[in-house]
Amino acid sequence: MTIIADEAAVTPAVLKVMAQTTDPRLREIMTSLVTHLHAFVREVRLTESEFQQATRILNTMGQQTNDRHNEFVLMSGSLGVSTLVCLLNNGDHGATETTQSLLGPFWRMNHPLTENGGSILRSPTPGPRLYGCFTFVDQQGAPIEGLEVDIWHASPVGLYENQDESQADYNLRGKFLTGPDGVVRFTSVKPIGYPIPTDTTVGTLLKAQERHPYRPAHVHVLAHKPGFKTLINQTYVDETDYRTSDVQFGVTKALIGTLEKHTEPHPTDGDIGEWFSLTHRLTLEPGESRLPIPPIK
Ligand SMILES: [Fe+2]
Repeated sequence: MTIIADEAAVTPAVLKVMAQTTDPRLREIMTSLVTHLHAFVREVRLTESEFQQATRILNTMGQQTNDRHNEFVLMSGSLGVSTLVCLLNNGDHGATETTQSLLGPFWRMNHPLTENGGSILRSPTPGPRLYGCFTFVDQQGAPIEGLEVDIWHASPVGLYENQDESQADYNLRGKFLTGPDGVVRFTSVKPIGYPIPTDTTVGTLLKAQERHPYRPAHVHVLAHKPGFKTLINQTYVDETDYRTSDVQFGVTKALIGTLEKHTEPHPTDGDIGEWFSLTHRLTLEPGESRLPIPPIK
């Protein structure tokens, strides 16, 4: 190794060491990381106290991470990295729009099997009714039969059942099976957007940047069947500005469902006041059907 003469000599000296990495992918990643990291430090002319602050922030984020909370995942979302990785790796490797999205922190394994067309209301949940109709197709547009589909979402006050004592276990969660038409129909209530946790490092950043902590209302979907890449999706149903200012940058065009407000009596459930219909068409890519590790039990 050469003796480093001055500031300009640092980057080439480090890159020379990175170039000796045997594993080609690790070599590529580390070379690029050092190149961009050094360029970043130069560009912002990072001060010594800012550098010390940065290392303290990373330490704190590690301490804030546990079995029920992952501060790094939250930060990745808040900086748009999670969506970028998703879009680069899906939709024909970023070439086309994709209905693939982020899993989020609240998917549970073994959602209760629910009859197609049935309700996922498992305890009284006040709020306007939502009638969902999701169509699942392959890349040629043909409906996919025999697809196992998990649906889950937050309540009309923005809480998932695992966060809310007043909701029954598995409320607003169900597992459905598609028929020959590739369609899943379900009855629920309309979710609203909710804030991400704000009592940790991400919250401090949001406050410093005067950003709100809200995610737009959405319905989560996880669809899998052998032969297809497992589809993880968030279908957005929001009518507010959060759709264009999602704190996690999760909303893409292909993820916005068609939400319609109705005031006429519902064709089967009669006079239920204001209700909503939600339709969305989701495309699965060929690939490996693999279930993610559930973030919660
Ligand atoms: Fe969510």
